[in-house]
Amino acid sequence: MSTPLVWAHRGASGYAPENTLPAFKMAADMGADGVELDVQLTKDDVIVVCHDERIDRTSNGAGMIADYTLAELKAFDFNNSNYAFEGTKIPTMEEVFDLLEPTGLTINIELKTGEIFYPDLEKKIVELTRKKNWQDRVIYSSFNHYSIMKIKEIDPEAKTGFLYADGTLNMPGYAAENQVNALHPAFYNLQYENFMGDCAMYDIDVNVWTVNSEAAMLRCRDLGVNAVITNYPDKAIALYKS
Ligand code: G3P
Ligand code: MG
Repeated sequence: MSTPLVWAHRGASGYAPENTLPAFKMAADMGADGVELDVQLTKDDVIVVCHDERIDRTSNGAGMIADYTLAELKAFDFNNSNYAFEGTKIPTMEEVFDLLEPTGLTINIELKTGEIFYPDLEKKIVELTRKKNWQDRVIYSSFNHYSIMKIKEIDPEAKTGFLYADGTLNMPGYAAENQVNALHPAFYNLQYENFMGDCAMYDIDVNVWTVNSEAAMLRCRDLGVNAVITNYPDKAIALYKS
């Protein structure tokens, strides 16, 4: 039986503030195979790592990332009410590349272009990935499939996946037709009949989120998914080793 790769969702976000350098470092220290993170664009065009378009939930500030410069954003504390991590700053994508450079980890970069169509975010992230020489270790995903098609246009070699949540028709066929490498379904989408078989037929990897319970981790292994995206990478690693 093949064992899924373990990708830390927003870093080891079950333990450290999501999408921060401590969360990514913890994931690497735990032995994760990769990290998943979310990217947005600042007012002065810097790619930063944050799940929400607003900073209200995860920092001591308020407002839209798009309305702040990087310097202004760096003044806020992104400890996300986890006070052991007081003073944690919002990371730039470049800082994450630098942190994980020595580790060999994969980075799943999720483009948060659902609500705000950040101008040229696709071009900017591909350029940064190239500048840092990370092309072989990055897979791009997004709920906005137009963004993924743009990434493929800019870099036809880029690894890509379509994110989706609730039941959509024939996702394996759609992924194959649009020539992406992977599907990134919410865990409950694995229930559709023949889903894994259809993905295998089209040679589409299945990377599943958010796989936090032991039962879900075991189910993913039984089904032969490529990667589980989890807030608790240590639990998944321990379970898959046992
Ligand atoms: O990429 C998997 C997962 O992160 C997608 O949903 O909302 O947690 O970014 P979300
Ligand atoms: Mg995400």
